[in-house]
Amino acid sequence: MASFETTDKRTHYCGTLTAANIGEKVRVLGWCQRQRDLGSLIFIDLRDRSGIIQLAFDEKTEKEIFDTAFGVRAEFVLAAQGTVRSRGPEAVNPNLPTGEIEIFVEGFKVLAAAQTPPFAIVEHSDVKPELRLKHRYLDLRRPDLMRNIMARSEITNIARNYFNENGFIDIETPNLIKPTPEGARDYLVPSRVHPGKFYALPQSPQLYKQLLMYSGFDRYMQIARCYRDEDLRADRQPEFTQIDLEMSFSDEEDIMTMNEGFLKTLFAKFLHMDLETPFKRMTYAEAMDRFGSDKPDTRFGYELKNISDIAEKCGFSVFSSAVADGGSVRGIKVDGGAKFTRKEIDSLTEFVKTYGAKGLAWYKNADGTVSSSFAKFMTEDEMAAITDRFEAGVGDLILIVAAKNSVVFDSLGALRCEAAKRMGIIDKSKFNFLWVTEFPLLEYSEDDGRFYAKHHPFTMPMEEDLPLLDTDPGAVRARAYDCVLNGTELGGGSIRIHTTEMQNRMFAALGIGAEEAEEKFGFLLEAFKYGVPPHGGLAFGLDRLVTLILGLEDIRDVIAFPKVQNASELMSKCPAAADPAALAELGIAVVAQDEEEEA
Ligand code: AMO
Repeated sequence: MASFETTDKRTHYCGTLTAANIGEKVRVLGWCQRQRDLGSLIFIDLRDRSGIIQLAFDEKTEKEIFDTAFGVRAEFVLAAQGTVRSRGPEAVNPNLPTGEIEIFVEGFKVLAAAQTPPFAIVEHSDVKPELRLKHRYLDLRRPDLMRNIMARSEITNIARNYFNENGFIDIETPNLIKPTPEGARDYLVPSRVHPGKFYALPQSPQLYKQLLMYSGFDRYMQIARCYRDEDLRADRQPEFTQIDLEMSFSDEEDIMTMNEGFLKTLFAKFLHMDLETPFKRMTYAEAMDRFGSDKPDTRFGYELKNISDIAEKCGFSVFSSAVADGGSVRGIKVDGGAKFTRKEIDSLTEFVKTYGAKGLAWYKNADGTVSSSFAKFMTEDEMAAITDRFEAGVGDLILIVAAKNSVVFDSLGALRCEAAKRMGIIDKSKFNFLWVTEFPLLEYSEDDGRFYAKHHPFTMPMEEDLPLLDTDPGAVRARAYDCVLNGTELGGGSIRIHTTEMQNRMFAALGIGAEEAEEKFGFLLEAFKYGVPPHGGLAFGLDRLVTLILGLEDIRDVIAFPKVQNASELMSKCPAAADPAALAELGIAVVAQDEEEEA
């Protein structure tokens, strides 16, 4: 073929060519998006990661090249060189950034042929996710997905640069560590050299980054892989990435300010948007009381109102007994929600049931026609007090849950988001950042009959609550904070314990005895003896950050090779059975699984 070697390098990416290149000789490499054969004319849309350029072949094209172009099909890998020319007004494609120009091809080569792919390589595919994930390398050819992955790279670079410019040292921490349960289940890795012993994959670099502060690095950062064997959701993956950092001699203010600076820089550079800082702050107690959630979406109202004082004496036993049993009766007002039909309210009732609520009491005033599921049990005065409390008027809908507090908060916290979604009132262009502070230090598990650390066992209690640690541990607040964006927990961190005495008090509150503490965290307790600076830190979920910045909903759309709901990866089909010889070497016997479980 005409003077074209496959060793020839590209001169331009397809999507970067413009009318300014007209008349230039260029070389491009990429995939055939589509080939159109119009008899004496052939057009090929050539695609690379930057976009598409049209290749043109006509009667002036060398016959061998024309014949080769004739045989080209979608997804063939091609090399082309030629002259950039104007398409002429009638052939301009206004939908394509390079739509004014084309390359008249003078050298051409098929570098690889391709079978017809199992789905078309187009933006916004509606092909089943399972099929796309099975052929993820093809799915990643789709321009929208490819843009997401490239955006992720840009965001990661901005993060690394910002923290490096602010004196943070990028340090890698190990991926094979001691199993130390932090909340979720560990992924375990068997040791061949020590049969019967296991490493764990880190749920986060937590202990190591603290130890780096003990060593005197002062400021640490890492783009860190983390592994958690937990149930997956749209915003969770078993392996994910954190922008992880730690700062010595710092308090909450230092850490929040540093990270507001990061997010402000990121939004300015990536979205050309000026974020207002400092972000709003709210205590955990206020967030729960007003929004029923420790990660409230503040882009809309529908705030919770407590009507327990009215409900406790009323004749409706569902309400009064919830209060008598130590729970509460709370609700939200959906402005304009009276337009919801009975069927829609029934579906909201089913929705709150998934959060443990037994039912949903409702009241609506549609154009003066009042209907309600509970008014018949109430006095007129009680109903007036309730509508007053919600400031409900014509057109509004009140939705109420009566139960123990955890159920009331969980169900109403989720319901206000669901109702806002159904009312279509969520402004998708808004980025509402919020710091939630003063989290409870401990969380009681009724199943296990013991307290667990809400953040992790190395988080410092609030000074003023210390006396409660031995008497009422559940009431102690922590020096912990979360960074929340539009109802998603984007990051979390805390000021850490840095003395043996306090760490031992914390282990005692968690029911971890001296022996267990020594066995699990002996190295940490030992390290405390040698001069540990006060320190604290935070980690952002990088996958979640990218998802939200790009306005997406599914974390899988920003991960090159994600896992599905049941934690398997459909393309390589993992997890998979291990080679019996490898298992024998590791001293591991597998208890037989029935086939259904294995599938
Ligand atoms: P935490 O457990 O709150 O804190 O995690 C920090 C952030 O990581 C993200 N994240 C996840 N993203 C995707 N999939 C998951 N399964 C997942 N789990 C967590 C969230 C979360 O806010 N070591 C502490 C941080 C510290 O104290 O400095 C930690 O890991 O966005």
